Amino acid sequence: MNRKYTPLIAIALLTAGCHPARDESPSVPSQSLNEGAARAKGAAISGDLMETLKAQLIGALSSNDPAQAVAVCRNVAVPTTDAAAVHERGIHVRRTTMKPRNPANAPDELDRRVLEAFATANPPPADRVEPVDDGGYRYYRPLVIAELCLKCHGDPATFPPALVETLQRLYPQDQATGYALGDFRGVICVEFSPRP
Ligand code: HEC
Repeated sequence: MNRKYTPLIAIALLTAGCHPARDESPSVPSQSLNEGAARAKGAAISGDLMETLKAQLIGALSSNDPAQAVAVCRNVAVPTTDAAAVHERGIHVRRTTMKPRNPANAPDELDRRVLEAFATANPPPADRVEPVDDGGYRYYRPLVIAELCLKCHGDPATFPPALVETLQRLYPQDQATGYALGDFRGVICVEFSPRP
């Protein structure tokens, strides 16, 4: 069963990434920003993002060309990460890890502390909320390597040459390979700022 990659798939995926389900998550007016609200809202937003990303990755990987799939992931994952909550002022969503593929996703100091705590807890906790100096909060949710992730984050020796070539070209500083099933990969971070 050979399904061919077509630009249409990319367009469909991009469109999906640009129009997240806006009305499904409960909203947190800035005056009611507190740890509990940050946890509830963070869980809803990161859950949505995980579902969207998984669906997009499965769609992208069903194309015949893994290198094209990476192009889709690259174009879709980043705007999706932002778009998931950009419609609400004061909320910013991103992914970070100790071993970034894209250096733009490198952790800051607080990220690093949380990543270390998650990496040493086995299994990692379901989530964690951290207060930030400006009165805001960060909600962190761990991402664990599933079968699907190994296709682009597993052993590069198992990757098709076109995928290796594309990753080297787009991400010359790629550190995000060599993971095994069940490994802790990184986090989704949902940031809530009191001043939009
Ligand atoms: C088709 C290839 C592909 C698959 C499959 C894939 N990823 Fe990625 N992943 C990428 C690319 C490309 C990036 C870089 C995106 C960017 O430029 O921000 C990335 C980035 C990430 C990041 C952001 C941090 C970083 O390293 O830059 C996380 C976290 C991540 N992936 C986790 C996962 C998880 C968990 C899975 C499985 C559910 C998965 N990925 C499956 C290609 C893939």
